[in-house]
Amino acid sequence: MAVRGLLLAFTSALAFAGAFDFVLSYDRPPARKSLFVRLSEDVDSTSPQQVHISLVGEDKMRISWITEDPTPATVNYGTSPGKYGFSASGSTSSYQYVMYQSGEIHDVVIGPLKPQTIYYYRCGSDSAPEFSFKTPPPQLPIRFAIAGDLGQTEWTSSTLEHISQSNYDVLLLPGDLSYADTNQPVWDSFGRLVQPLASQRPWMVTQGNHEIEKIPIIHSDTFTSYNGRWHMPFEDSGSDSNLYYSFDVAGVHVIMLGSYTDFGSSSAQYGWLKADLKKVDRKKTPWVVVLIHAPWYNSNTAHQGERESIDMKASMEDLLYGARVDVIFAGHVHAYERFTRVYKGQANNCGPVHITIGDGGNHEGLATKFLDPQPNISVFREASFGHGELEVVNATHAQWTWHRNDDDELVASDTVWLRNLTSDPACEV
Ligand SMILES: [Fe+2]
Repeated sequence: MAVRGLLLAFTSALAFAGAFDFVLSYDRPPARKSLFVRLSEDVDSTSPQQVHISLVGEDKMRISWITEDPTPATVNYGTSPGKYGFSASGSTSSYQYVMYQSGEIHDVVIGPLKPQTIYYYRCGSDSAPEFSFKTPPPQLPIRFAIAGDLGQTEWTSSTLEHISQSNYDVLLLPGDLSYADTNQPVWDSFGRLVQPLASQRPWMVTQGNHEIEKIPIIHSDTFTSYNGRWHMPFEDSGSDSNLYYSFDVAGVHVIMLGSYTDFGSSSAQYGWLKADLKKVDRKKTPWVVVLIHAPWYNSNTAHQGERESIDMKASMEDLLYGARVDVIFAGHVHAYERFTRVYKGQANNCGPVHITIGDGGNHEGLATKFLDPQPNISVFREASFGHGELEVVNATHAQWTWHRNDDDELVASDTVWLRNLTSDPACEV
């Protein structure tokens, strides 16, 4: 055990020296206590744990869960508690990471499902506990909860508590989930921490730098744990990688991009994004929303000058501007910041609104220093933990609200109405 602990410390140090060195490059105030969620005593080796769900196509849901020992990858489900008229089977996988062997990771797609309906489900064996989820509405309005850089601290708990009160339909996460940073049991803890929410509503995520988990010589693959545990519906959007994909929900087309995979104009991601944007039917999905991890616009002193911000923006901003993307959400910077509509560094009425929402609550604390003076394109900025809510009301209007975790009270601190870009004749393409 001691040898294993030493090895983990060594590999973590290597990883920080490589992929994550910039994370430690400025001072952050002390954060709240870190959490590690242990397996509860009533969970045996074949009980489902770390249950989370994600959208697949317009009327299906992926159910993901982990067991310590092998069990059938089967989900029984129905619309009344304890009555399961439907059953579906899927697949089981696992991964190895240095000396860590993951549990059995089960992946079952169920459906077709009715919209805006509560389903009750049971994973694996007949004695497993019952979970339930609600499917999203078939059309607008829809409510998204958005939080990046979650991690696992008492601040994360506060953020999750507030999100759970928001009556959201779908959660969007712009990267940096568990902050395991190569210490794999921390991924298991994260799965347990988010299960109460992530088993009830679809959690749609993209990855950040903390998901890379590459260790020179020792573990050369990237995103091993993320890809193993958070299978997103990339196959359904013609993507060849779990690191970038898109989906439609109600009247919104959501695009998840990968800031830490190739994004140059000859890359597979770029080619896929271009084709995906071309396919968007704004009559069916009037709103187009994009998530990245490293923000393209940022007036915090943290994470300035990184290639994932500068080069990705240089490569892809024209595509997103030309397609009249409405909003771009990012994480990475542990603070909140909202920009006006921008393009190539200037205010532009036909550009996307950029919002940094990397303030979910992780152990690194807040990024408290902002550049002075505040650029005129930066409308609102504040270093507090919190989450955002995007209520897309109809084809032309949506309301964005940022909620600060102020002394554990939920406070709506910044709010703005957004007008859909395709409803503005001046922005006709
Ligand atoms: Fe990050």
